[in-house]
Amino acid sequence: ANVNFEVRPVAGRIGAEIRGVELSADLNEETVSFIREALLKHKVIFFRGQHQLDDAGQEAFANLLGSPVAHPTVPIKQGTDYVLELNSAHGGRADSWHTDVTFVDAYPQASILRAVVVPEAGGDTVWANTAAAYDHLPAELQKLVDGLWAVHSNEYDYAAYRSREVDEAAQAKHREVFASTVYETEHPLVRVHPETGERTLVLGHFVKRILGLSSADSAQLFSLLQSHITRLENTVRWRWSEGDVIIWDNRATQHYAVNDYGDQHRVVRRVTIDGDVPVSIDG
Ligand code: SIN
Repeated sequence: ANVNFEVRPVAGRIGAEIRGVELSADLNEETVSFIREALLKHKVIFFRGQHQLDDAGQEAFANLLGSPVAHPTVPIKQGTDYVLELNSAHGGRADSWHTDVTFVDAYPQASILRAVVVPEAGGDTVWANTAAAYDHLPAELQKLVDGLWAVHSNEYDYAAYRSREVDEAAQAKHREVFASTVYETEHPLVRVHPETGERTLVLGHFVKRILGLSSADSAQLFSLLQSHITRLENTVRWRWSEGDVIIWDNRATQHYAVNDYGDQHRVVRRVTIDGDVPVSIDG
């Protein structure tokens, strides 16, 4: 790799900061493959001070990593092709553990998130490594989950899970937009990562139930597995500054936007990259 780049792991099992790269549509092939490799290895990569990127620049950079896709139900930000804005003033607080858009068959492979307005304190985002989570499960639990599938739906989304502190009208509006079309699909609980071959756990808050189990058993197994995924050893937490850009491998992570900043303003903008249908360990 180019000697000008520096990769500094942030936590033991997930996350690395990359220095010496100015993100743009003009990056050469060597730099793009360097970014890709770092993403596959560290699952989430952090770039500071990318003030040169505006919405169009973020979309153009995203194009180098794959095909950007608009969110299936939330309207894109005006004047953009793919940008999803999460604005705290309009109820955009993703404060429950999830992988982006798992309620569709081929959910995004990666997300690129850019901080536009950051609260003075709070509003961090936390990511969890779902490959490490599978890897560290006891063998008996691995055997149990290996053959299971779950129904994912957007019916219980941000709206249903968002904290009570957020204003009711904003919640209702968000619910109306988000759940205007109900999507539902089935994914294996264990997915073979198409690029690394690692096994990753596919869960998060879009899971409605685990197939073959009663709703009570589903809920208990779901929370058991989520507690393994989100144990602190599998996570990394980022304190945002304006201009930070973060990319995560959406096939190997979950994330959670910490809702601890009250009515301070927070705006982040996301572009997601098209993914493929998960393949189970049985092929
Ligand atoms: C998201 O869920 O994609 C947004 C995370 C965040 O607001 O930090």
